[in-house]
Amino acid sequence: MPLPKKAKPQGTRSPRERVRVLITGARIQKRIQALAREIRNDFPGEPLHLISVLKGGVFFLTDLARSIPGEVSFDFIAVSSYGQKTHSSGQVRLTRDLDSSIEGKTVIVVEDILDTGMTLRYLLRLFQQRKPKHLRVAVLLDKPERRIATVRADYVGFSIPNEFVVGYGLDYAERYRNLPYVGILLLGPGLKKKPAED
Ligand code: IMP
Ligand code: MG
Repeated sequence: MPLPKKAKPQGTRSPRERVRVLITGARIQKRIQALAREIRNDFPGEPLHLISVLKGGVFFLTDLARSIPGEVSFDFIAVSSYGQKTHSSGQVRLTRDLDSSIEGKTVIVVEDILDTGMTLRYLLRLFQQRKPKHLRVAVLLDKPERRIATVRADYVGFSIPNEFVVGYGLDYAERYRNLPYVGILLLGPGLKKKPAED
């Protein structure tokens, strides 16, 4: 049924924000199937322990976990950074640790996006000290242009340009995480792209 003329669209979006689709939900799902196959082929028959970084990596983790055949367990960790300035100097702080030990396990860190690399550098150092059998990184998105820390992901969903993106776990002020696709956030009356470094 058509909406009455004056009805406002539902949802939490401000009229000064719009999201332009960059990667559709269908492309994301297809790519995740391929990544899951690649991961399983690299570790045939091994139990895999997926660790997701709250909150952004959760959608990727749940879809990836359901696509990997065989034994899979998972855990969660949360970090925060001390604002943008100190963030880029590497000040990442652990706010929620894992529930269980990773010693001797084949661990795949599952992150939404690899941007400056500071978060993953911190996590990889932390996890390495805990003596996993293997430690690998899977990211849905990679923004190579923004890299500060020399971190590489073993499994990358999509390499994207230097744009601020939302959806499929990624947020802008805690909103848009629930979008089933990844889109570029446009801001302001003229709907300009949000600078990625904000
Ligand atoms: P890094 O430490 O700079 O690599 O930052 C990674 C974290 O920054 C991600 O886990 C996201 O939470 C956040 N982030 C980086 N780029 C974006 C973006 O384009 N949109 C939303 N969040 C982002
Ligand atoms: Mg994140």
